[in-house]
Order: sequence, then C-alpha cells, then structure tokens
Amino acid sequence: MTDREENRITSVLQEDRAFPPSESFRSVAHIKSMEDYDSLWKYSVDQPEKFWSEQARDLLEWHQPFSKTLDWNLPHVKWFEDGTLNASVNCLDRHIKGGKKDDPAIIWEGEPGDTRTLTYGELLDEVCRCANVLKELNVKKGDRVTIYMPMIPELVITVLACARIGATHCVVFGGFSSDALADRNNDAQAKLIVTADGGFRKGSIVSLKENVDRCLPRSTSVEKVLVVKRVGTQPKMCPNRDYWWHELMAKASTQFEAVPLPAEHPLFILYTSGSTGKPKGILHTTGGYLLGATLSAKLVFDLKEGDIYWCTADVGWITGHSYVIYGPLSNGSTALIYEGAPNYPNQSRFWQMIERHRVSIFYTAPTAIRSFMKWGDEPIKGYDLSSLRLLGTVGEPINPEAWMWYHEKIGKKRCPIVDTWWQTETGSIMITPLPGATTTIPGTATRPFLGVNPDVVDREGRPVGTNEGGFLVIKQPWPSMLRGIYGDTDRFHSVYWKQLKNVYFTGDGARKDEHGNFWILGRIDDVLNVSGHRLSTMEIESALVSHPLVVEAAVVGQPHEIKGEGIYGFVCLRGDTKGTETIALQLKEHVAKQIGAIAKPDTFQFTDSLPKTRSGKIMRRLLRDIASGRKSFGDMTTLEDGHSLNRLREQSSVVG
Ligand code: WT7
Repeated sequence: MTDREENRITSVLQEDRAFPPSESFRSVAHIKSMEDYDSLWKYSVDQPEKFWSEQARDLLEWHQPFSKTLDWNLPHVKWFEDGTLNASVNCLDRHIKGGKKDDPAIIWEGEPGDTRTLTYGELLDEVCRCANVLKELNVKKGDRVTIYMPMIPELVITVLACARIGATHCVVFGGFSSDALADRNNDAQAKLIVTADGGFRKGSIVSLKENVDRCLPRSTSVEKVLVVKRVGTQPKMCPNRDYWWHELMAKASTQFEAVPLPAEHPLFILYTSGSTGKPKGILHTTGGYLLGATLSAKLVFDLKEGDIYWCTADVGWITGHSYVIYGPLSNGSTALIYEGAPNYPNQSRFWQMIERHRVSIFYTAPTAIRSFMKWGDEPIKGYDLSSLRLLGTVGEPINPEAWMWYHEKIGKKRCPIVDTWWQTETGSIMITPLPGATTTIPGTATRPFLGVNPDVVDREGRPVGTNEGGFLVIKQPWPSMLRGIYGDTDRFHSVYWKQLKNVYFTGDGARKDEHGNFWILGRIDDVLNVSGHRLSTMEIESALVSHPLVVEAAVVGQPHEIKGEGIYGFVCLRGDTKGTETIALQLKEHVAKQIGAIAKPDTFQFTDSLPKTRSGKIMRRLLRDIASGRKSFGDMTTLEDGHSLNRLREQSSVVG
C-alpha cells in the first residue's frame, strides 16, 4: 500500500447508533424486510443472468427483445446484446401510452424564482422538436454532442433528444473553464455544442456562451453551436455556426420517430478524474445503463405514484444523469429540478422549495448537509417539511454528526436515510440501504444493491478479515458498468482491471463489519474528494506548473469542515520570487482558468524544495501531515534531504 492508503485505512470509526425502518415505511415499501433483501440478493449474484434478464424484461420496453443476456470477456462486457431499445422511449413514450400524458415529468425552478412544469406529454413534444433541430444541424446516430448548460429544462430536453436520435451526449459541468471544455470536446470529437447565453448562480450570471466562444479555436471537431436564451445577455452569434434554440425550436415538428438502438449503443460519455493523466471519458451504453438506473431508482428511493422526487445534483455529474434524468423518468416519476445555489436568495431556499412543491424524496450530498449544519437551525424554522418521507446522500463518506443532523433536523427522526455509494464508472448505486429493509447506521452505506457483488481485499486480492481495511472491489459484472474509457482501451484495462487481478478496482478503501455492512474509507489513490467532486492532484499540479512563476508543485488534500477535503498546494517559485498573497491569488485564478473554480487550492505553502525520496518521488504523506497540521512524521528513512522538511516546517510561508 502507498502511504495514502495506510493513513486512510487504519481509521476505524466506532458507531453504535442503529435505525431500523419504521413499521409504517416498511409495510408499504417495495422491499419490506431484510429476509426479502437477503434472499433476493443471493439469487441476484448466484444467478445474475437470470436475475438481470428478468429485470430487463420487466422494467424496460424493448423494440426488439434480447435473447442473449451477458457476454463477459474481461474487461469487455456486453449486456442484452441483440436487443434494441431507445432510452427516450423508456423515459417518455411508454408512460404516455400508460396514461401519464398529463402528469408532471419535471417541475423546474430557476434561481430567480421563475418556474416551469412539463408534463410527460409536453416533455415528449419538446424532446421531439429538439431531436428535429439536432437533425437539421446535421447530428446523426453515433455523433457526439457536448452539452454545456445550466440546470434548465432545455438541458433535460437535449439529453433525451440525443438519446432519441442515438447521438452520444457528453455533458460538461457548467463550472468548468473553457480550457477544460475544449479538452473534452477534443477527446470526444464532438460535432455540436448545446449551450445557453448563461445561467444564474448565487445571483450572478455565469457566461457559458463566452466560454464556448473561447474554447472553439481549440475545438476543431465542433461545427455548430446551439444557444438557449436563458439570462438575456447578448452574446456574439457567429453566422452559420451559432443558432438560437428558440428560433429553430419554433419551426420544428413535435413528431420524431425514436431510433431503435442496439443495447450496447453508446448513450453517453462523462468525464471524471483519475489519479494519473487527463480526465477519463467514461463510456456508458444504452440497455445496461438504463436498467441499472431504473431498478436502483425504484428500489433505493422506493419510488411510488405521487412522489415528488428531488435530487439536487448537477446534470454535469453522474448523479444528475442517473438520478435527475434517467432513473426517475424511466420510472414515470415527477422530478423537481433547481437551477441555482442553496443559499439564494437566502439559506432557506431548499426548505422553502420542499414545502412549496411537497417534496417527498430528497437526495443531496454530505458537503451540502455540512453547509446546512453550519448555517444553523434558523433557516429551517417555520418550514413545513412534513411531505418528506425519504432522504438520501451521495458523493463522499458522510460523517456521523452530519448524518444525525440530517436525520433529526430535516427528517424529523421519521425518514430513513439512504447513504448510497457508487461512482461515475458504476453508472448506478452499488452499496446502499434499501429503506424498507435495512437498519441504517450513521457512516455506513451498508449492503450491496441487488446484483452487485463487492468485497474488501488486500494487495494480492485476498479478502481481508472482518473490520480490516482494504481495497473495495466488485467481483462480478453488472449491467450499468462502464464499457470503457473513450478512445483508450489500454488505460481502461490497466486502471480498473489489472491492479487487482480479474476484479473491478474502485480506487476506494473500505472495511466490512461483522454484520456485512461496508464502511467506505475514501479514495486510496491521489484523487481528492472536494465537495463530493473527484479531482486529481496531478491535474491541479499540471495547472500550477503551467504558470510561468512556478517551478514545481505538489497538491494534497487537507481536512475541510464543509468541503470534506480542501486543496493544499506546495509550490516552489522561480528564482527568488517570494510567495505573497498576490501570487497566491494569481495562482488560484490560473487554476480556475485551466480547470474551473472547483479546483482552486484553498491554501498555498511556498517553499524552495519539496521532500523527495532518493528515487525522486515527492513524499506526499509528509506533505499531507504538514497540510493537516499533524506532528508525527512516521517513517522518514527514505527521505532524500531531511533539511527540505525542516525548511517546510519552519521557514516557508503559508497563504490562504
Ligand atoms: C467516488 C465517486 C457517484 C456519485 C457521485 C460521485 C466517493 C461516492 C459515496 C458514499 C462514501 C462515496 C467514492 C467514490 N463516494 N458516494 N456514499 N460514501 N464515498 O461520483 O465523481 O465518480 O466519485 O465518490 O470515493 O469512488 P464520482
């Protein structure tokens, strides 16, 4: 194990508060007891092909039914290979046929307070219109479309229109910079970008179209740009390249026959950080992905007729793909979508929205919960949260204090909490309570979801003992698993399948307790989890050293009250430049420009050298100790120059 792994894995939490599901929740839940869960789970992993083919027939509408369930040739997997289907039909048409034409599919609130509700019938009309517009802009089955938009209904419409045509969508989070956008366009070789003039965030405007304009000189594959008017700024429109959404949509027909697609047709690419190299384009395909999202949304959120379901994640991340769009819509539910910040115009915004829309299921991130805690009880007071019946979290381990706060202040001790572990790569929830069956304990994501077979192993792939830390792996293929890293089969193989022989390597540490509950201990590679966002230390370091004043940089995580992990940068400056607040600010802006504001270091420590091993590797463990103010420096026999450490401790300047 590397030093990062050791630090993480020896931290064993003690927690004995346990919360069994209430009788009233249990008796009407989809899965009603631990016995039901245990026997279903056993069946699902003992006879996975049988289990998944039944679920696929039951939960999805196929154009042409499949006859083959699984083709597994590590690391290549095919599910339901000879079946054809269309994800937009599964999310829309079939529900309309089933009588939901006038039921709300999405209820949307913009940050300034404007609202819009789209019924299933209206959403289908818009999706068809958009599919016709995309076609007119020369988008064909198999083409890649970059979507760089705020959280507005047009984003959902575009995603589903791509799915209807069979174009592969690549949603890029609106907080990424134009450089990051250009990299993703190039990697995906996207033909079209769909964007907006801007979006609202904390009362100000994020100028998305300007970022698109800036990325275009470097995005040679992009032919056209489609622009939604959201904020009313007047962006420059380049003739024969830029088109207004409202102009083309107004002329487009509401009829568009969905294209039946092979189950393994690429549905989307979504970029995520790994410990080495540039961001990875995680590829998901149609049938397996949709099945994973559909089944997990149904059982984990216990979706029922009449639920108003709200997942606060941005569609720029996998949570937004699976649990804002595909999961809820494929189940015919009503999803609330919000454009802006939780503290705009004040810290009560979320609670107001829950009251106003009678939200019954609320899914958010631990980092958000920690902010709510910090804001105190006042913003919650007076709001009626009695419509809530289930709460969820995702993104990072949730600390027990935050769990208890969520349980007491938001759930009023009535609502089960599902702490769901999964990844961009897994496509859907993998380790999670089932709210009508599982006894939850603050801090553990509890047990594997149906059809998921995880374990905790050592470096040689041997299972470790009860309550011993190790690597979290998945031992069997599952339908919504990633199909690859776009354009890089070798990297796909080496990152996920070669590190621990023949099992999927998650990159997380975990331990399993005596009840079979999985306790996730966080990343064991050099990936930071900042506010639930995966960021690679290497990417931030490359951004820093691309600044003319920087000679060398090392970035580590540092415990942070709200973000979970903060970013701490050790920087050696050129010549005898002195580290100052001004330079720290410059470096922050530089990183924001290269990657996006989420990657800005919180703190800089300027130094003239970094502690290295004799072979020249930066000793990150020591840097992490310094960054988190720990005294004991452990084993230092491999350190090349002990003085560099003293200098770091005593002489260098800390800014931030
Ligand atoms: C990484 C995946 C999948 C949704 C959002 C993030 C961490 C995620 C949990 C949880 C502990 C969690 C892991 C994982 N993580 N959920 N419930 N408990 N850790 O997707 O960006 O692909 O990041 O987030 O470290 O590997 P992602």
